[in-house]
Amino acid sequence: MDPLTDAAWQALEHALCSYSKFPVGAALHTADGRVFTGCNIENASYGLTVCAERVALWKALSEGVRAFTEIVVVTNAAKPTTPCGACRQLLWEFCGDIAVTSVTRDGTRLTHPMSALLPYGFDRDSLPLQKPG
Ligand code: THU
Repeated sequence: MDPLTDAAWQALEHALCSYSKFPVGAALHTADGRVFTGCNIENASYGLTVCAERVALWKALSEGVRAFTEIVVVTNAAKPTTPCGACRQLLWEFCGDIAVTSVTRDGTRLTHPMSALLPYGFDRDSLPLQKPG
């Protein structure tokens, strides 16, 4: 198994998913070769749940990382799990057109570019603002 997928499976083991019973692991590869992992974190309010992808992304962004190449998402579902709409929006904004690979327990892999998962996405280029420096 490749190291990024292995890291995602390890992260899945930490999932806090007592409400959905649907553990998710994610591993985000940075342009400089580092890996940031995340798991889904649920809570009694339900609505404040954070997906594995966003946990990995927030960890990386909060460490100052700004360039990414790929994210791997793993679940125990029979079919590969692709990121939810909210995560697609944020991955597009902060990671751009990275590869998104979804992997099942039996090793089935499905890879899409972010631009295919969120075509015609809304982002900073959609706003009539100066780009941040
Ligand atoms: N979830 C993720 O963490 N990532 C996905 O790509 C799909 C959904 C989580 C959210 C929630 O904790 C559980 O899976 C069921 O929706």
